[in-house]
Amino acid sequence: MDTTMAIRVEGLHKQFGRGKRQVKAVQNLHLAVKVGQVYGFLGPNGAGKTTTIRMLLDLIRPTSGAVTLFGQPVFGSAGVLRRVGALVEGATFYPYLSGRKNLEVLARTGGYYDAKRVQAIIEQVGMADRADRPAKGYSTGMKQRMGLAATLLGDPDLIILDEPTNGLDPAGIQEMRLFIRDLADKQGKTVFLSSHMLNEIEQVCDRVAIINKGKLVREGTVGDLLDEQSRLLVEADPLDKAQAVLGANWTLHSNGGRHLTVEARRDAVPDIIRKLVENQINVYQVSPQR
Ligand SMILES: Nc1ncnc2c1ncn2[C@@H]1O[C@H](COP(=O)(O)OP(=O)(O)O)[C@@H](O)[C@H]1O
Ligand SMILES: [Mg+2]
Repeated sequence: MDTTMAIRVEGLHKQFGRGKRQVKAVQNLHLAVKVGQVYGFLGPNGAGKTTTIRMLLDLIRPTSGAVTLFGQPVFGSAGVLRRVGALVEGATFYPYLSGRKNLEVLARTGGYYDAKRVQAIIEQVGMADRADRPAKGYSTGMKQRMGLAATLLGDPDLIILDEPTNGLDPAGIQEMRLFIRDLADKQGKTVFLSSHMLNEIEQVCDRVAIINKGKLVREGTVGDLLDEQSRLLVEADPLDKAQAVLGANWTLHSNGGRHLTVEARRDAVPDIIRKLVENQINVYQVSPQR
């Protein structure tokens, strides 16, 4: 039994429907998430992220394949799921109860009610001043925070979050990032989170798996994946001058907007910036193209 692996997914398949209407939502997926990592699961809408997460949590059955959490098979064994807190596609609350009451109900149901702990978690997710208002008045961001609070009630070792930044404003996204990082760095938790935005994942995760049309397309550290990008986006002013300067050394693609795309890897970034600055061009951004 491998207890250093928080999540192990082997040859996971999920097919919905039959015949013409058959959808292969997840195909031959392999994942390994070590204890203490923040692991990103990145892919566009419809890629199979939520379907995978539902299988990790034993909410739906795989067509085939295996999932083990902390070395224990998840299917049919409720035991290991007690070590997991999850937020899948937004939380649902009793609308007329306050956020705090909702958490208390959940904690009682889970058999771990402790008013002090509920208060500490409310503070942790930044809801101390709003926890006693009815949940029906909460904004999406507040619901996401309370949803996150709910996942933490049972003091889980593994926290699984499906698109946790959906509906948050930029400040909320930044807070969520710091919060997730702290869970791993200060509390030793393992966090598995999905997103369709690379920039969200790259700032918080140690490793990333990229999924598209149900299949794993890449896996590695965030650094590896960014280094692999072979096009850089350059935002500079004046752009026509930048085009003339960079065009002498690199192949360029103009997209007609305020950016240029340069065929180069990340290690060319310092050279590009130097060339632009030497030519009195203002540089606003040089970054790997998504
Ligand atoms: N219950 C279901 N029945 C039929 N098709 C489904 C079901 N759930 C998801 N799908 C399909 O599986 C694919 C993956 O969906 P999903 O896992 O929700 O993607 P993501 O979370 O990455 O956006 C999509 O094509 C979706 O339409
Ligand atoms: Mg989804």
